[in-house]
Amino acid sequence: MTDPMQTELVKISEANGVMEIIWNRPDKKNALSNAMYRAATVALARAVEDKSIRVVLLASEGDSFTSGNDLADFAAASMGGEAPAAHGFIEAIIQFPKPIVAAVPGLAVGVGTTMLLHCDLVFVANDAKLTTPFVNLALVPEAASSMLMPARIGHARSFAMFALGDGFTGEQAAQLGLANAALPKDQVIPAAREAAKKLALRPIGAVMAAKKLMRDGEKILAQSRTESAIFGERLRSAEAMEAFTAFREKRAPDFSKL
Ligand code: COA
Repeated sequence: MTDPMQTELVKISEANGVMEIIWNRPDKKNALSNAMYRAATVALARAVEDKSIRVVLLASEGDSFTSGNDLADFAAASMGGEAPAAHGFIEAIIQFPKPIVAAVPGLAVGVGTTMLLHCDLVFVANDAKLTTPFVNLALVPEAASSMLMPARIGHARSFAMFALGDGFTGEQAAQLGLANAALPKDQVIPAAREAAKKLALRPIGAVMAAKKLMRDGEKILAQSRTESAIFGERLRSAEAMEAFTAFREKRAPDFSKL
């Protein structure tokens, strides 16, 4: 039976205990639309329930991991349209009890980077680019990244990422502890698949218990919800509207009169 939430823009498959969720919108650098978030959220819910699934692998088609939330969807939400479906996906990934492995071959913008903070093993290309330019879009950090990123890499580096849009290469990300390994691009997916395969053979009860012990799930969820409320307000601001319009018109935003 076809899942009504399925979209060809996310490829979902299962084999040998591993569910692969693959962003498949390479012509838009895998920008995540509401339909894509919903498809991934439904898949994660199924992976929680299905005992045969022991690990999730997050990966992508093309050279980018993802360019973040679809800015046309943000623009629509900012004008009172459909609320972004990112929220549901973020809560699903925060609460996901089984291990998640990520393969990042290139660009990881916004939620593309913040979702990595909820993955348990992360493999990146040497020349990948991780950025979280929330303030450039008149937004604020999400997915509990305002708490998790400073905990990982310190306040000053995190602030430069969020407020200035500064980014890291894959190599830097691995040095800073945001990733397990930085590799040549063509080795990223094979390394992630190999790690997922190994994890699927481990005793799942112990793996899940270890993951739970390592994360303060309640605190992470609470922070994400606090961020979400502010994010929603920011999304409806005149500043955000200018940022989204500027992206659509392929020009730099002008916040000087706002
Ligand atoms: N939402 C919607 N469309 C996006 C997108 C996004 N987040 N990111 C890229 N695209 C689209 C572009 O509009 C373009 O579409 P077109 O070919 O129909 O014009 C296509 O993907 C390719 O992107 P382009 O900008 O031409 O590639 P680039 O290599 O010059 O730049 C980025 C890549 C990711 C740096 C740039 O697209 C960008 O800044 N995107 C927005 C990222 C962002 O702010 N995300 C939200 C973070 S919260």
